[in-house]
Amino acid sequence: MVKDWNPTSWRAKPIQQVPAYPDLNALAETERRLASFPPLVFAGEARKLKRALGDVAEGRGFLLQGGDCAESFAEHGADNIRDFFRAFLQMAVVLTFAASSPVVKVGRIAGQFAKPRSSGDETKNGVILPSYRGDIINGIEFDEASRIPAPERQEMAYRQSAATLNLLRAFAQGGYANLDNVHQWMLGFVSGSPQAERYGQLADRISETMNFMRAIGINSESHPSLRETDFFTSHEALLLGYEEALTRVDSTSGEWYATSGHMIWIGDRTRQIDHAHVEYCRGIRNPIGLKCGPSLAGDDLLRLIDVLNPSNEAGRLTLITRFGHEKAGEHLPRLVRAVEREGRKVVWSCDPMHGNTITVNDYKTRPFERILAEVETFFDVHRAEGTHAGGIHIEMTGKDVTECTGGARPVLAEDLSDRYHTHCDPRLNANQALELAFLVAERIKKEQEARPPRQVVNF
Ligand code: PEP
Ligand code: CO
Repeated sequence: MVKDWNPTSWRAKPIQQVPAYPDLNALAETERRLASFPPLVFAGEARKLKRALGDVAEGRGFLLQGGDCAESFAEHGADNIRDFFRAFLQMAVVLTFAASSPVVKVGRIAGQFAKPRSSGDETKNGVILPSYRGDIINGIEFDEASRIPAPERQEMAYRQSAATLNLLRAFAQGGYANLDNVHQWMLGFVSGSPQAERYGQLADRISETMNFMRAIGINSESHPSLRETDFFTSHEALLLGYEEALTRVDSTSGEWYATSGHMIWIGDRTRQIDHAHVEYCRGIRNPIGLKCGPSLAGDDLLRLIDVLNPSNEAGRLTLITRFGHEKAGEHLPRLVRAVEREGRKVVWSCDPMHGNTITVNDYKTRPFERILAEVETFFDVHRAEGTHAGGIHIEMTGKDVTECTGGARPVLAEDLSDRYHTHCDPRLNANQALELAFLVAERIKKEQEARPPRQVVNF
């Protein structure tokens, strides 16, 4: 048990990004109801993810984490979930096969509803309203009623998360992820693109390998790992009343777990060491992420690591760096050196999205080339420091959206208005996501060739 901690101890701390609920009794009532609902995920699953991330921290494997910036109630449907899962699986298979690296698959999904905002309010045509904070808190429509935080939204988010997870579990374990289907994961609108061709060739090689293995008696019936995969969920632990209500004691270990998702992370705006979000996260045993932006000092990072991972457990903490393509070369080395100097075991993951947002024609967008540039810098820095570039954290969708500019089949500035559907930040479309996966696979391969594995893998 963590000392002087319980699921409510965050309430005594200062806190950022709190919605102004007008009716606190109604909020408490919702939280009481949520506390009686079944857990969404189980402690054993969170432990399994932590073990897999422990391998990544030791230099074996790669973390692929991605999904919507903000899930929405309006876009909740089987097609969206399936298309996301297909695009994500394609990325994972590219990374696994092209880079011969185990890939830990974590979606930003089934709980990614609450958004931190830079400003408490939003102005449009001279009208000022409270900012949209994610569907779990208020509505995106620009009118006064929609922007009032409504507690019942938390129950809707819980139920949507449960339904999403149900489908994801079926996809991951029920045959959809079978490597025999590798050709079928191609999404219609991607076909004909350069990525589709590359992917088709890779899928052919996988099918050939599968045929060879079948011939020698290894098939998806005898080897479940060929027909199913482990897929985990994650989100930012921002709305702490909701998180508290879903915090449960694991009956086997007697320890506290967040059961709202397998992995949760602390955002760049809420990582103050003596504040509520760090307090909540230090007490649960799930793997956790910490967003690291340009304002984070090396000493402060070490103090945060002391609080969040005092036993230096590999897999417990993933540092998700998000500096922007021009700043990564300056900030990443100083953090890597501080962490290495103190021998702290972490997964280093690169979020090339949140430091690269610009506004073009009134649309928030992210130029694809800047996203790639930050990923390249991430690999360069880890190569120079002798550390393991352990993962990427991206905002993406399986749909053919026009939210980030650029890519091999480019989205132009004037295309942004065509299919700009995000509820918050601009996401990579499936084409751009696949292109990024090929680039990352090449970099991982190069790193493997340049550097022997740190430890011998046990057979
Ligand atoms: C996010 O991941 O959507 C986000 C808000 O990131 P950050 O905390 O890094 O700004
Ligand atoms: Co975002």
